Amino acid sequence: TNITIIGVPLHYGANRKGVDLGPDAIRGANLQDRLEALGYTIDDLGDLQVNRQLQPAPEDEKLKYLSEIARVNRELCASVSAELGKGRFPLVLGGDHSIAIGTIKGVLQHIKRLGVIWFDAHTDVNTHETTDSGHIHGMSLAAALGFGHGDLTSIGGADVKLNPGNVVIIGARSIDPGERAFLKARGIRVFTMHDIDRDGMKRVMEEALDIVSNGTDGVHLSLDLDGMDPSAAPGVSTPVTGGLSYRESHFAMEMLFERNLLVSAEAVEVNPMLDRHNKTASAAVELIGSAFGERIL
Ligand code: ARG
Ligand code: MN
Ligand code: MN
Ligand code: MN
Repeated sequence: TNITIIGVPLHYGANRKGVDLGPDAIRGANLQDRLEALGYTIDDLGDLQVNRQLQPAPEDEKLKYLSEIARVNRELCASVSAELGKGRFPLVLGGDHSIAIGTIKGVLQHIKRLGVIWFDAHTDVNTHETTDSGHIHGMSLAAALGFGHGDLTSIGGADVKLNPGNVVIIGARSIDPGERAFLKARGIRVFTMHDIDRDGMKRVMEEALDIVSNGTDGVHLSLDLDGMDPSAAPGVSTPVTGGLSYRESHFAMEMLFERNLLVSAEAVEVNPMLDRHNKTASAAVELIGSAFGERIL
């Protein structure tokens, strides 16, 4: 497989500085060497251009930094689509989780029946109608499903969207009231921390992988590092206690590799400013390594 790395130093969706340093922090944790050691050929396109000088979002602005986030995601969508068109595997480095809109819409240009594994403490299914924070990183999964502000849902075509039955969320433990209603109404399968406590990661992943592979032609991994417990991944925009352990996360990625389903992946929300030892970027690289076939023995 030939992998193309695309960096997206966007922080406006989290409305918090530092996550724009994520792509370089992940590269600095030796991503390319790790993947090359597994036999992949890597092309790093560098970073998409993000305007870093925007004025603070006005208090009364409903969706913070909507126009710049939509612009960057349109470019990302085009870039991801172009790489898939060349038969390459897009690996996108965030940046905040709003970039999942561009990544997934780009993949959907080629793979209409796409499964998604959304690894996250949150579910990111707010819309302009339900959001409390106005932060677009909390709306990206809804947008990829075709719900929310038209400037987001229209990226890559308004009719290009995920089927909610092909999406699973793993590690959730912080869900807003509006999101709860959304998930229920659309029938999205959420494996919360409660499910993982009760059934263990092995059973959860077996079921999750059955769901995302059933009636699909490929699976995208959207890896929000805050799905991990803050002790394992402290440098994230919105940490939530009680998360997935290092081993559980690792094992989930190993199981994912064994099924050979992935067509694209992204790692998001790494904020090295909140993490002096780069622990979170290292965790990102280790999880990606496992998803791409690293083995202990
Ligand atoms: N639910 C909250 C919101 O909508 C938090 C979202 C956090 N999302 C993330 N990708 N870290 O603002
Ligand atoms: Mn997220
Ligand atoms: Mn999250
Ligand atoms: Mn590993």
